[in-house]
Amino acid sequence: GNRTFTMIKPDAVEGGHVGAILEQITASGFRIVAMKLTQMTQRDAETFYAIHKERPFFGELVEFMTRGPIVAAILEKENAVEDFRTLIGATNPEDAAEGTIRKKYAKNVGENAVHGSDSDENAEIEGAFHFAGREIF
Ligand code: GTP
Ligand code: MG
Repeated sequence: GNRTFTMIKPDAVEGGHVGAILEQITASGFRIVAMKLTQMTQRDAETFYAIHKERPFFGELVEFMTRGPIVAAILEKENAVEDFRTLIGATNPEDAAEGTIRKKYAKNVGENAVHGSDSDENAEIEGAFHFAGREIF
């Protein structure tokens, strides 16, 4: 199958939702091929989210993503990118479908529990940002 990259964001780690989120991910057919608990530096977050640097919420996003540990993971499944975006739901939990990870665990449009890559190309770039080749199985 092909791959996507995810982060369980600081709000969901703080809230104690790591186990439940990983359970929902694996029960939905994704195989974990890389995973770690880590914390992004300001520079990491500015680089990772460079595409959003002109957006009004950029400063808030960087502050949020660096405030505590995250779980970073690479997931494998057929049609991984699209199926994972469906599983997490809309960016804003108010718009997210019932049963999606963001509907259940996100607080608001900023603190929205999980990240999912938006293309195969970005999945590769984002996975390589967080993991060395020998950490990917
Ligand atoms: P990711 O999977 O995290 O990339 O989310 P997404 O693809 O659904 O949304 P997008 O890439 O457009 O935005 C990236 C992240 O920026 C979101 O997940 C939010 O954490 C944050 N974000 C987006 N819009 C807003 C906003 O209006 N306000 C704030 N504070 N944060 C936002
Ligand atoms: Mg995005």
